[in-house]
Amino acid sequence: MQALVQKTYGSAEVMHIAEIVKPEIADNEVLLRVRAAGVNPADWAIMSGLPYVARPVYGLRQPKIAIRGTDVAGVVEAIGSAVTRFSVGDEVFGSAKGSYAQFAAAAEDQIARKPASLTFEGAAAVPMAGLVALQAVRDHGKVRAGQKVLINGASGGIGTFAVQIAKALGAEVTAVVSTRNVELVRAIGADHVIDYTKEDFTRSGLQYDFILDNVSNHSLSDLRRALAPTGMLVPNGGRFDKKWMASGGRIVQGKVMFRFGSQTLGNFLVKMGHEGLLALTELIDAGQVAPVLDRSFPLSETAQALDHVGAGHARGKTTIAVDTAAERRVVTLLREVA
Ligand SMILES: NC(=O)c1ccc[n+]([C@@H]2O[C@H](COP(=O)([O-])OP(=O)(O)OC[C@H]3O[C@@H](n4cnc5c(N)ncnc54)[C@H](OP(=O)(O)O)[C@@H]3O)[C@@H](O)[C@H]2O)c1
Repeated sequence: MQALVQKTYGSAEVMHIAEIVKPEIADNEVLLRVRAAGVNPADWAIMSGLPYVARPVYGLRQPKIAIRGTDVAGVVEAIGSAVTRFSVGDEVFGSAKGSYAQFAAAAEDQIARKPASLTFEGAAAVPMAGLVALQAVRDHGKVRAGQKVLINGASGGIGTFAVQIAKALGAEVTAVVSTRNVELVRAIGADHVIDYTKEDFTRSGLQYDFILDNVSNHSLSDLRRALAPTGMLVPNGGRFDKKWMASGGRIVQGKVMFRFGSQTLGNFLVKMGHEGLLALTELIDAGQVAPVLDRSFPLSETAQALDHVGAGHARGKTTIAVDTAAERRVVTLLREVA
């Protein structure tokens, strides 16, 4: 099978398409024929080996897993002996080990049936960004109807899900974006939009019950000023250009700063898995949430897709289409023969 692999850390040039053997599956895993994969800033970070502090986890000198990509949507090709939820032929989405490939192994508890209304690319856009947004807004923020919510970085992968989930929970949502994305966030339901090129929300005098910060471009003390006296801040962002620690220093600083007063801090690491994917599917089926799709790249251009997301200005989600052109050719040929 074809896969996008890397032997060393670095910029997009370290990635190349290679012909490798299909992954073997464990008893609790399924083999997926990948139809689409999603791109996240984390994929760019692992490709780059940043921040350095994470290398014991990624692999010290080279990545332990050579194939990048986790977000996936595809068709079950084979199942392990202990798999009970899925059968061959099921269309699913979730997390796999190395989704920038024609086939990938995924644990049964890391996938769910693909929402019927979504294409494979739409479904591959959902897992990580959708789950971070859901866990930030619903689980950590416990956002309720009528609360004032602000999403900084509202036009990116996580932000576009967070705006829609906060609206579904009945909140009054303010989205912070650049000029070119004002209409985009209005279209997905934001009640108020702040153009960060013209206005600094931490200096407006307005306060919010919940702030999800996907960017980290303001100091924690500035963010506290925009937070209601009992509000919660989820400091989710952290560009990986801080090569040593990324957002590590900010997390420690926040823990100290938020010990005083009644505002709370909601640092968290996303928990991927079946239950969360089912909750997102419910919201998608109810028409309350839909992935916002940015650009789609073929598998052969995944390195460019990683660069696009790594630059930090994605609009919604970037996806990789795997095999669709080849399959379209086969379908066309079959039609011609028939
Ligand atoms: N907690 C966790 O477990 C977890 C899991 C995954 C990711 N994350 C983190 O979440 C963050 C966001 O991820 P993502 O997937 O949403 O990223 P993304 O899709 O790359 O989006 C980044 C967004 O930030 C916006 N932005 C850049 N500068 C801005 C500024 N000064 N003010 C407001 N918005 C600005 C960009 O919009 P413009 O183009 O308009 O600038 C873009 O829409 C990342 O730092 C990632 O590491 C955390």
